[in-house]
Amino acid sequence: MNNLIESIKQLKKEKNAIILGHYYQKGEIQDIADYVGDSLALAQWAAKTDANIIVICGVHFMGETAKILCPNKKVLVPDLNAGCSLADSCPADKFESFIKEHPGYTVISYVNTSAAVKALTDVVVTSTNAKQIVESFPKDEKIIFGPDRNLGNYINSITNRSMVLWDGACHVHEQFSVEKIVELKLKYPDAIVLAHPECKGAVLKIADVIGSTAALLKYAVSHPQNEYIVATESGILHEMQKKCPDTLFIPAPPNDSTCACNECSFMRLNTLEKLYECLKNESPEITVDPVISAKAVKPIKRMLEISAQLGL
Ligand code: 13P
Ligand code: SF4
Repeated sequence: MNNLIESIKQLKKEKNAIILGHYYQKGEIQDIADYVGDSLALAQWAAKTDANIIVICGVHFMGETAKILCPNKKVLVPDLNAGCSLADSCPADKFESFIKEHPGYTVISYVNTSAAVKALTDVVVTSTNAKQIVESFPKDEKIIFGPDRNLGNYINSITNRSMVLWDGACHVHEQFSVEKIVELKLKYPDAIVLAHPECKGAVLKIADVIGSTAALLKYAVSHPQNEYIVATESGILHEMQKKCPDTLFIPAPPNDSTCACNECSFMRLNTLEKLYECLKNESPEITVDPVISAKAVKPIKRMLEISAQLGL
């Protein structure tokens, strides 16, 4: 493993490559990444890097976002099969028909979408900036929000809006059960429940803190004396534990305790071996149809501009 890590570092230097890793990656990948962050941070780093090659250790839509922002750079993802059930729950042709059924609506899409869906969108959001970006529109703006119904319902509730929602969800976040979290709370009565807004409404109701992976991490780091039950993909515990070594972090168990469904099987497809191979071969590479890319770049850049104005 040490040899592999050294070889990856060597290749990275030789090829002027940068490795950007999401918090849901395996710990050893997070440890070798130049930057680890949430989906907004990955897009922000991609947009400003002067590296020749960007390796996105995350899922396909994150690679696409980087490629759309940097069309002249090589963007690699160690395993191209790293998809996203939420992005898959929103096929572009069906989303287009949905938009046509709602003339005059502004389209806000979560970053967990294909490039083709982003090309149909007015502004992209992530879980870090969704509330602020929705609130940047007038109160009576007619809005379609897709594809995550849980995030959409949550944003509707905290902004007092009634955006029309696409009926999509993430298979990992839908798994967390209120009963299992309540059982854990009986065992750890002082534990703070942290939840990602992709969780079902019933889970969000019993959560103490709701936020993106970066927001949940920030909360834990600024309150290290607490114990935490963490209702999001369990990869985030790696960085939480690293930053707060004396804190107890308990991953919220999925509904079915015989599976590891609180791990995103897509995210976990990336391995150190595949990362090495992909840097060596400069493949697999993310490609995006230039026509789609030219449309999709606008709502992504709009998100980055609003986020910069908001200091996010
Ligand atoms: P973040 O925006 O918190 O990175 O979430 C991305 C994601 O895929 C959640 O499932
Ligand atoms: Fe997609 Fe869910 Fe995996 Fe995030 S955790 S990448 S939303 S499938």
